[in-house]
Amino acid sequence: MHHFSYVGNKLHCEGVDLAAVAALHGTPTYVYSTQTIADNYHRLAASLGGLDLRICYACKANSNLAVLRHFANLGAAFDLVSSGELRRVAAAGGRTQDSVFAGVGKSEAEIRVALEAGVYGFHVESEPELERINYVAGQLGLKAPIAIRINPDVDAKTHAKITTGKSENKFGIPLKFAAEAYAAAAKFPHLEIRGVQMHIGSQLTTVGPFVEAVKKVLPFVLELKKTYGIRYFSVGGGIGIVYPDALASGAQAWWDAKPEGERPLTPEVYGAALLPLLAPLGLKILLEPGRFLVGNAGVLVSRVEFLKRGHGKSFLILDAAMNDLVRPAMYEAHHEIVPLFRDSTRAALTADIVGPICESGDCFAKDRTLQEVGEGERVAFMSSGAYGYTMASRYNTRGMPAEVLVSGNRFELVNTRESFESMVAGEKIPGFLKS
Ligand code: LLP
Repeated sequence: MHHFSYVGNKLHCEGVDLAAVAALHGTPTYVYSTQTIADNYHRLAASLGGLDLRICYACKANSNLAVLRHFANLGAAFDLVSSGELRRVAAAGGRTQDSVFAGVGKSEAEIRVALEAGVYGFHVESEPELERINYVAGQLGLKAPIAIRINPDVDAKTHAKITTGKSENKFGIPLKFAAEAYAAAAKFPHLEIRGVQMHIGSQLTTVGPFVEAVKKVLPFVLELKKTYGIRYFSVGGGIGIVYPDALASGAQAWWDAKPEGERPLTPEVYGAALLPLLAPLGLKILLEPGRFLVGNAGVLVSRVEFLKRGHGKSFLILDAAMNDLVRPAMYEAHHEIVPLFRDSTRAALTADIVGPICESGDCFAKDRTLQEVGEGERVAFMSSGAYGYTMASRYNTRGMPAEVLVSGNRFELVNTRESFESMVAGEKIPGFLKS
């Protein structure tokens, strides 16, 4: 469920005509719906109702300050992976003290920043990291709250680049060595054992792997509660979303054709499966969802530069490129592409939809069929709210795209399009090259 739909023939985000946004702020531009984010947040919270639950929004998915403030207003805490993200949350007015700090390579400087901010838990991925956190906490005369990330060795059945819970991944400590790691942690004077964590991967579309992983670690979690009096269990993020969006023609057929077991995961299914396992623990439960909360709450609006009719193949060349939205190039990800202006009298067009960047990988979709659109018209990439802007780059010296936030019939620019001057601001030509 999201708040992007056609009003008449014009694609709207809530009460805002996306063509008006594009006319004012240009393209490529990300547009986010506050209402969709709020609905997703409340729906997920409701699906685990009855638990002592804390939703730590994984802000790597979308860390725009306005989006973070919206989450803070909704009552969310945050899952952070760098001191940069921590500073973003603080700048947006979010509660860093309720947030958790993850990542396999935390630097001493980052640990210091997180300790000073009083984060709720460090999610530790290795024994050398325990030692480092203990050392920095000692320097500051503090005790660092920690939870060790357990790698349950479960196949999340998702794209290889975003699976994390198998033993061959770099993440966490295997279950069979976890007791040892906790015993080591208990010996450090500047660590406080506060919880336990796991995360098995991203864009999971079935509940099975979550259930399998939780069941696998449950006895150990209970043991930790008894031995160390831990307060929380973070089950990570990973709930997938439906990328073939209901707005596009054929999406319903796609959905119907899926066998029941492979249909996209809903928070209700997730909650119903996990609640009976988690409730008896008597622990605070942390969730770290990113994509589920913001994925379908954002679109990338782009303009058609040319329709190039090739020999046996047509190319729809857009002003957005892989630097703006890298997911198709990086994960073979599917994003629906729909016109801002819908016209049922037009013919269908089948083309490769590409950006202007100088490499063949800059392709959003191969042989995609959509309504014919011509130069100057605009299209939207659906479900681009997660890992869109945050993974964007300046490749080909293309500035970072703009971002706009919508609430009802209001919209505001929440990040300006990057100028050439800002792109090169940190660069200089050294004296020895100047004659
Ligand atoms: N917690 C931890 C420890 C994580 O590593 C991640 C994501 C999350 C939570 C949030 O996962 P989510 O609920 O968003 O699935 N760039 C990729 C996704 C990478 C996910 C990395 N870790 C993509 O565009 O699909």
